[in-house]
Amino acid sequence: MDKQPIGVGVIGCGEIAQLMHLPYIHELPDLRIAGLCDLSPGTLAALGDHYGVATRTTDYRELLSRPDVDAVVVGTYDHANVVADAIATGKHVLVEKPLAFTSEEAGPLVSAADDAGIVAMVGYMKLYDPGYEIGVERIRQLGKPWSIHMHDFAGRFDRYGALYSQVRPDDIPVETLAAGRQAVDDRIATMLGPDHAGYAGLYLTLLMLGSHDLAVLRGAFGVPAAVAYARQVGPYQLHAVLEYPDGVPCTLEVGFGTQYEWWDEWLAVYGVSEEVRIAFANPYLRHASAAVHVREAFGEGPSDRVLRGSPDTAFRREWMHFLDCIRTGRPPRTPLADGLADLELARDIIKAMPATTKKVSG
Ligand SMILES: NC(=O)c1ccc[n+]([C@@H]2O[C@H](COP(=O)([O-])OP(=O)(O)OC[C@H]3O[C@@H](n4cnc5c(N)ncnc54)[C@H](O)[C@@H]3O)[C@@H](O)[C@H]2O)c1
Repeated sequence: MDKQPIGVGVIGCGEIAQLMHLPYIHELPDLRIAGLCDLSPGTLAALGDHYGVATRTTDYRELLSRPDVDAVVVGTYDHANVVADAIATGKHVLVEKPLAFTSEEAGPLVSAADDAGIVAMVGYMKLYDPGYEIGVERIRQLGKPWSIHMHDFAGRFDRYGALYSQVRPDDIPVETLAAGRQAVDDRIATMLGPDHAGYAGLYLTLLMLGSHDLAVLRGAFGVPAAVAYARQVGPYQLHAVLEYPDGVPCTLEVGFGTQYEWWDEWLAVYGVSEEVRIAFANPYLRHASAAVHVREAFGEGPSDRVLRGSPDTAFRREWMHFLDCIRTGRPPRTPLADGLADLELARDIIKAMPATTKKVSG
């Protein structure tokens, strides 16, 4: 077995790459930063010097052409073309969520990855959180739930982003950034169609924040059978009811924009005689896994227990899993097909809202 460190090309060296991916690729002995790619030359210079990486480019195709790049992590805004090209050049791929902006873009990526025989996975790091793993195990013991509730109103991002040093030079032409965003907006508007294009901002909320929660639900319960109800309740806030095949209802609340000083994301599952709640920590906190709250009988009275996973970092475990899949050929726990399933569900949630031609985002 090849024991050389896996060379990773980092495509998109912004916030999440700087806070989580680069430090872990650097730290884990079986991984090596083989090259950096970003549209910002200043970012490349600063991070290249910091990590001692000579290969720096603003063109990701250049990185993909290098034989010392075995795998890439995609942390750009728009992923689909980068992932397609990475698969075509035979690189293993860890792509940040969302896999793509529409299921039409994501579908071909799933089949291409299968055909190429590479490891391709979506960065749904919450599924690698030790607390989540314990919580799902506990949920399975509870039997058929009466009801499920997934809630994610996030909280202040700035507090936790400020815990880390970031390089963010202002050196990408504004027209380049604007054109990139416009291209995405156009594709989303086309996919949603005239009756639902007004919900484009809400759909993006569902992709950027809520895709984690759709993945968390899928990891515990599979794919829902239907979207029974969905409404916009704020500029970037939605309320939906999903139905699972065995008739179990799931309330889903997702919203950006709270100013909570806490991180407000949890999955609660209600059984006949107990309740299991997985409360996630702020994703930018290291060594802070989700806490599992169990309410059940103790003798003839109630009891509350908190089960805490080992104090690991979900992103670190995600990298260790990716590495293990590359080394052993085992299929990843969060394959591209899951990213596709979540995009389809996000679309179905938006399409379950009343038709509107008006822009309803704030
Ligand atoms: N897993 C998580 O919890 C989590 C958290 C934050 C962000 N994300 C995801 O990570 C991705 C990046 O988010 P971010 O917050 O780091 O954004 P960001 O804007 O800080 O970083 C994106 C970087 O990609 C670069 N870039 C854009 N297009 C490029 C291209 N074509 N080639 C090379 N570089 C390019 C930009 O210059 C920028 O530095 C998004 O998909 C987001 O959804 C995931």
